[in-house]
Parts: sequence; C-alpha cells; structure tokens
Amino acid sequence: LDDLLGEGVSGRRVFVRADLNVPFDKANPGVISDDGRARAVLPTLIALRDAGARVIVASHLGRPKGAPDPKFTLAPVATRLGELLGSDVIFATDTVGASASAAVESLQDGQVLLLENLRFNEGETSKDDAVRGAFADELAKFADFYVDDAFGAVHRKHASVYDVPARLPHYAGGLVVKEVEVLRKVSETPEKPYVVVLGGSKVSDKLAVIQALLPKVDKLLVGGGMCFTFLKAQGHEVGKSLLETEMISVCADLLAQADGRIVLPVDVVAATEFSADADHDIADISEIPADRLGLDIGPRSTALFADAISGAKTVFWNGPMGVFELAPFAAGTRGVAEAITKIDGFSVVGGGDSAAAVRTLGLDESAFGHISTGGGASLEYLEGKTLPGVAALEK
Ligand code: 3PG
Repeated sequence: LDDLLGEGVSGRRVFVRADLNVPFDKANPGVISDDGRARAVLPTLIALRDAGARVIVASHLGRPKGAPDPKFTLAPVATRLGELLGSDVIFATDTVGASASAAVESLQDGQVLLLENLRFNEGETSKDDAVRGAFADELAKFADFYVDDAFGAVHRKHASVYDVPARLPHYAGGLVVKEVEVLRKVSETPEKPYVVVLGGSKVSDKLAVIQALLPKVDKLLVGGGMCFTFLKAQGHEVGKSLLETEMISVCADLLAQADGRIVLPVDVVAATEFSADADHDIADISEIPADRLGLDIGPRSTALFADAISGAKTVFWNGPMGVFELAPFAAGTRGVAEAITKIDGFSVVGGGDSAAAVRTLGLDESAFGHISTGGGASLEYLEGKTLPGVAALEK
C-alpha cells in the first residue's frame, strides 16, 4: 500500500477488497456484535481517503447462495464503517449493477463507497474460471488499482480475491502484510517452547493443521467441542457431548504419534442441554453422565492448560474452550485467554471465534502479540497451504 500511496492516488479509483464479514447479535438482527474486522481495515481506508483516492470497498458477508438475500445485506456494515471512519460511506444496493455503476461514476476524490455483498453474485465463488473471470471483469472495470486487505478471505479462490488482482495493478494492504509477516514468523521460526491451543467444535476442521503442527510444537492443548472425540479415543464415555464418530480412530492415531504432547482436559462442565439456564456441574472426564453434554473445560483443566501456557515463548490459539457466549460456560475460554496474556513471549490469536471471544469477554486486546482477523486463513497458512489471495498479490 505504501508503494501505491507513493505513486499518488488523488483522483484515482482504488478497489479495496476488505473482509467485513462481521458477526451480528443473534437477539438483535442488524446489530453488529463485534466490529473488529471493520476496525482492522480502517488504516488502509483512511490512508487512501486522505490521499484523495476514490475508494471502492467490496466484501462478502455470510454465505448467501449467489443471489441477493436481504439477510446478508452489507447495509448495516456501511453505516458502522461510516461511524468508524468519521465520514459518510456511500452504499450501493448491488455489486456491479445500476446502483454500483452510478455510485462509482459519481464518486468524488476522498469519498468511500461500499458495494453490496459480493456473494450476491454467483461469479464471486464459482469454481468455473470463466464465470469467475466474467464477474472479475465487471469489478475490475470500476477501478485503476486493486488493494487486498481482506486477510480473512485470502484462502478463498474467489473472483474478488484471486481474479481481480490479475486484471489490475495490485497491492497488499497493511493488514494483509502484517498478518502474513506474523504468521510466517510463527510458522517458520517460532521461539520455543511453542504451545498451540485449539478449540472449536470439529476435529475434522482442524485435522490438517494438527497434522502440520504436531512435529513443530512442544504442547498442543485441545479443548472445545473437538476434545470429546479425542477423549472417546482414549476410552472415555462422553455422554451427549459433541462427537465425530468417524474421527475417533484418527484421533487415536494422533494421540499415539504425539507422544504425550497432545494435552486433553481432565474435567468438563457438563450440562443437561445447550442452554444458559441448563442444570450443569463439573464432571471428571471419567465420569461424564450419560445424559449430559460437556459445554466447557472444567477448572482443573483450565489450571492445567494455564500451567502449560505459562512457560511458553510462542503461543498460537484458535478456537474457544467452550460455549463462551453463554455465561456459565465461559470460564475455560477466559482462563486460557488470560493465561496467554501473561506469557513472557509472543502470542497469536487466530481469528474468528477466538478473536471475538477476546473482545466479548472484555479482555485487554493489547495484551496479545497479534489478533488475527482470519480464522480459516490463518489455519490454512499454518498448514503450509498456498493462499490464493496471497499468491495473486505475489504474481
Ligand atoms: C471468515 O469468516 O473466516 C472469512 O470471512 C471467510 O468467510 P468464509 O469462510 O465464508 O469464506
């Protein structure tokens, strides 16, 4: 981005791919529950706006099916972005149609325009290169330059991430640069001891990253819904807890390979149902009642995990330890997060739910080394995969 700013952008149209895929409050439709991703792209937008560029911002929101769907409109995000920028954000009610074309045409120097959800167009996510390419042609027509600051989406081979940069002079935004630098450091030269904390619901989603990280880490702490498949593989009964039956033998193999480096909970908070009002109690992992499900790691596990974290020089954390959105099941995630803030080393919070947990639990964001805006993207980076959005910028 500095290179582009150095060339001078006053009066030029700059297309910024941002990741404004923010979570909304389930109880209050239209109310953004965590605007961290919008805040993260502000430096890029402000720099371009203040340099007099005509800034065209594009993002996806959720997973609509390639057609307009009011549930996934970016309209509330445009309002929030305007508040954060302290200047109006013009909103186009389509992505490449009449509204967008007219708004791009009349955009003035230093103004910011947000296009409607990219995924309202089947060309955005199509697996067919020609279909994606045709949509990318329409987007590219809007601008002179392309800036990718959507780190959360760089692992998607989508038109706005992969094909538009092939059609315009392209630049990495400051957020993408920072994220890639941090993840490169953690994956290539982590200072030891290196502790990884994984949570979230499914082992299958994390299998590739576990396999890639196992040879590199000193300890891999596993909490969240995914720990129950590991516990089952160790021979424990897990009651009604989340279980991926088809992954039990894979977990058993991982445990055997790990040679003690995978650390599992020793107790859990077991509840009668998935609800904040559910009757719940702490259960040792050898005594999870058949009619209960584990919704958080227990206090002894939190202490065990905190102890393993305390000596680390590098920590990477992805995925909550429990259903932190419900107060009775937030203590494990809070305890682990607090332990991470105290290390005498470098910590990375890997995107998505864990970043949202840091903010919604009111933890001090500055106490972490880096809070990534990309959940899937940071995991795929650590898996060693080529990220299409980064590859497109490197070309
Ligand atoms: C994310 O939330 O991880 C990014 O915004 C990408 O969203 P996606 O998983 O729907 O592609």
